[in-house]
Amino acid sequence: MSSTPNKPLRSQQWFRGKEYYAFARRAWLRSEGFPADVFDNKPVIGICNSWSELNNCNAHLDKVAESVKRGVTAMGGVPLEFPTISLGEMFMKPTSMLLRNLMAMDVEECIRAYPLDGVVLLCGCDKTTPAQLMGAASADLPAIVVTGGPMLSGNWQNRPLGAGTDGRKLFDLYRTGKLSDEELCEIEGCLARSAGHCAVMGTASTMTSLAEALGMTLPGCASIPAPDSRRLAIAELSGRRIVEMVREDLKPSQIMTKAAFENAITADMAIGGSTNAVVHLLAIAGRLGVPLHLNDFDAISRRTPFLANIKPSGQFLMEDFFHAGGVPAVMKELLPLLHRDCITVNGKTIGENAELGKCFNPEVIRPASNPLHPEGGTAILYGNLAPDGAVIKPTAASPHLLQHTGKAYVFENHQQMYDEIDLPDLPIDENTVLVMKGCGPKGAPGFPEWGQIPMPRVLLDKGINDVVRISDARMSGTSFGTVVLHSAPESAIGGPLGVVKTGDEITLDVAARKLTLNVPDEEIKRRQAEWVAPKPHYQRGYGKMFLDHVTQANLGCDFDFLMAIKE
Ligand code: FES
Repeated sequence: MSSTPNKPLRSQQWFRGKEYYAFARRAWLRSEGFPADVFDNKPVIGICNSWSELNNCNAHLDKVAESVKRGVTAMGGVPLEFPTISLGEMFMKPTSMLLRNLMAMDVEECIRAYPLDGVVLLCGCDKTTPAQLMGAASADLPAIVVTGGPMLSGNWQNRPLGAGTDGRKLFDLYRTGKLSDEELCEIEGCLARSAGHCAVMGTASTMTSLAEALGMTLPGCASIPAPDSRRLAIAELSGRRIVEMVREDLKPSQIMTKAAFENAITADMAIGGSTNAVVHLLAIAGRLGVPLHLNDFDAISRRTPFLANIKPSGQFLMEDFFHAGGVPAVMKELLPLLHRDCITVNGKTIGENAELGKCFNPEVIRPASNPLHPEGGTAILYGNLAPDGAVIKPTAASPHLLQHTGKAYVFENHQQMYDEIDLPDLPIDENTVLVMKGCGPKGAPGFPEWGQIPMPRVLLDKGINDVVRISDARMSGTSFGTVVLHSAPESAIGGPLGVVKTGDEITLDVAARKLTLNVPDEEIKRRQAEWVAPKPHYQRGYGKMFLDHVTQANLGCDFDFLMAIKE
């Protein structure tokens, strides 16, 4: 770890000196009631807050920020909270993913533009964690993440419920008439019982856990429930620590190295993390010029045991994960697979931190000697349907479908799927492979979480709960099923998924990591030559910038001009 304790504070470039603007900046800041000694070489710590009432998952971050401020002040720093846009997963249309890069730009440019020496990143809901890590990586000032924590477990009629996963299952019961309107209304009231992100190992819990595994949070931060008093305590400790990090000049680029990303991917596989982690980790690494590839995920998946028995791939909820020991307990089990020497925000190595992990419930966090599955939770597929890769979460899939050949039934777009999915005469059966086009980064646009095509009514009525589904969309981390995602290149830019026809035969072979359209190459080429590109969704504004610059799923869907410039 580098340490340059005598380095002048960056904030002094704004406040020190006898020229007019230094004077004016001091005067303007003192309008907030600060005394004159606030400028006496004290580290200025930005608290980058994604609080919003339009983002229920982050709606408590105002209180978390107060605790951070206590910690910063206690160590002689000056805390200054600032807002960025917040991405509320449930409420943004067409998808919060369209705006992840905008939030990352907001975070980066605020850190860069303001008189800050270090920053505390407050996040939680799905895209807010990767967006803040991307922005902080590019700005590369000392930074520490404080996550908002998962919401309390839901409970309905004495039955534990995890927002996201169980909501989807219960809604399928409602669709098929097995739950009444009154029962659904009751469930609405007890599914999401508090602020905090979804209570399963969805994208939010995955990304907050991976922020910890990367070394960007204090140990144990990720899984403390949002309303738990320990959430505020760790926020205060993080506030204290960021002041020390400024004095040590410990930056994200020193923490988020290639080895740290490999540790994070190892943790991702062990917790059965969301498939979205692939896209987000690639994007964060891209900001730092760290060479990360889809193949890294697959190689690490094959050697990493799946340990965390949390929904949607397991049985329990995030509160149970916390009580069982959380990320530190997982990291302890993973020690032989980790790069132990990676430095973390607390100044210790990930190995030193992991040594302190303890598991209190081996049913929830399995020992490496008795995993839920010998391999990790994400597999990367290649083949003529996904020349640049596709992703599947085998741990959330039906084992009997992991090797499957069937005839395609094609939805040309999401609207067609929506219109047809409940038709009583939809011509499909349990062997059908459902294909949906036009849902990739440019196609939908924004790469929405539409990949878990709802189970067709005609199959649910026969008691069939899963079929193979393939698209270029993403899938919510709270979802489940034999769902192939992120097929790249996407159909909207001429990828082979765009030329699949109903009746074509498709083979999924997860063990061989293959996704194959069983149609002769010449025929695929002929269809591609006839393929007509769809009209772009946007002609102006941020949407146009997104369409012009977003990269494909296998590169992380960042904007090409935001990735680190290779020397
Ligand atoms: Fe915010 Fe699920 S909706 S994490």
